[in-house]
Amino acid sequence: MSAKLNIASIVGARPQLIKAAVLSRALRARSEFHEVLIHTGQHYDNEMSRVFFEELAIPQPDFHLGVGSASHTLQTARMLERLEEPLVTTQPQAVLVYGDTNSTLAGALAAAKLEIPVVHVEAGLRSFDRRMPEEINRVVADHLAALLFAPTKTAVENLRREGLAADKVRLVGDVMYDAALFYEGIAVKKSNVLERLKLSSKGYVLATVHRAANTDTPSNLRAIMEGLEQVARNVPVVFPLHPRTRVALERDRLLERSSEAISIVPPVGYLDMALLERNARLIATDSGGVQKEAFFYRVPCVTLRGETEWTELVALGWNRLVAPVSSSAVFEAVMAAIGSEGAPDAPYGNGGAAELIAQEILRMGECAS
Ligand code: UD1
Ligand code: UDP
Repeated sequence: MSAKLNIASIVGARPQLIKAAVLSRALRARSEFHEVLIHTGQHYDNEMSRVFFEELAIPQPDFHLGVGSASHTLQTARMLERLEEPLVTTQPQAVLVYGDTNSTLAGALAAAKLEIPVVHVEAGLRSFDRRMPEEINRVVADHLAALLFAPTKTAVENLRREGLAADKVRLVGDVMYDAALFYEGIAVKKSNVLERLKLSSKGYVLATVHRAANTDTPSNLRAIMEGLEQVARNVPVVFPLHPRTRVALERDRLLERSSEAISIVPPVGYLDMALLERNARLIATDSGGVQKEAFFYRVPCVTLRGETEWTELVALGWNRLVAPVSSSAVFEAVMAAIGSEGAPDAPYGNGGAAELIAQEILRMGECAS
């Protein structure tokens, strides 16, 4: 092929920066690609965005749309409006979207309206709960996509059940596993987070919370925080706080009280997070990415939700679900899971997902030209 294959990658939220870090590297390592990086601006605090560009050596975005926070409709609408110009002027042959955020939805929709093929990385995940904003985003992105990269066999099966043509779907593994493998050694060398937070290896529980179902339901949020406060009487708890959860804790007047028992810290960078995860005795989270990272580092995990998209971890015994219906439910689930182990398996591939994706996109480009 003579001309380069022009790919526009659309990112916006923290986990997408991590996924894009490995995929951008794989694309830019090949002379056949030219990548245009578009940041919607969905996440904008330094510790939710800039730190990842610096630590993970992500190329600076070619376009920053500065969308910021708003209601789902308004935020998505602003993204759609602002995506048209960069997509029209750069004329990519494919648009790459990641995961299930509003940036994913807007990116997929804008590309589809401009008749640019959509490539969806992390396709086929389902919680089967349409009240969850991410579920709407991922279903729409999958159904608009020309090429779907599924991280797991379960994801492939979900797509098949929804009638998506098998020849558009590729099982490649999880790019977040690629990221964990690539950055683990760098994190060990560079991060001094344990010293900074005065933590000892395997001497603490790591917790994160940000799901709308938990932050926007005061009874869930209270159950989680009170459950973790009880845990903290037995094992120290460290809690990097998502900005959405900060707002919710302040709303419910929980921040000050919880801070007395729990070490609540600002969001940390990826390298610090990798080290915090790797050295935790247990991880309690409602994050999709953090559930998997717990497994990558073979740390037992309690998911603070009644369901998960990453069902294989529950089946293997590395992850336990607890709907945060009461503080005792959270406390008991965490204490029971400490010290537990799951079965050995490798459900997320071998760390070469980004490379496989790059090869497949190239093949798609060759077929189209
Ligand atoms: C979004 C994604 C979610 C993903 C998460 C990763 C959607 C619908 N949700 O949720 O799937 O798991 O990102 O972290 O796209 N805020 C700040 N500073 C920031 C960003 C956000 O203060 O840099 C606060 C604002 O109060 C904002 C709130 O967090 O209203 C929520 O942000 P938003 O991007 O809408 O959703 P997330 O909860 O971050
Ligand atoms: N993460 C981070 N700092 C934090 C919390 C999370 O770097 O303070 C990383 C985490 O290691 C994982 C990703 O952010 O790679 C997960 O993002 P998040 O939990 O915001 O979203 P989700 O995966 O649930 O969509």
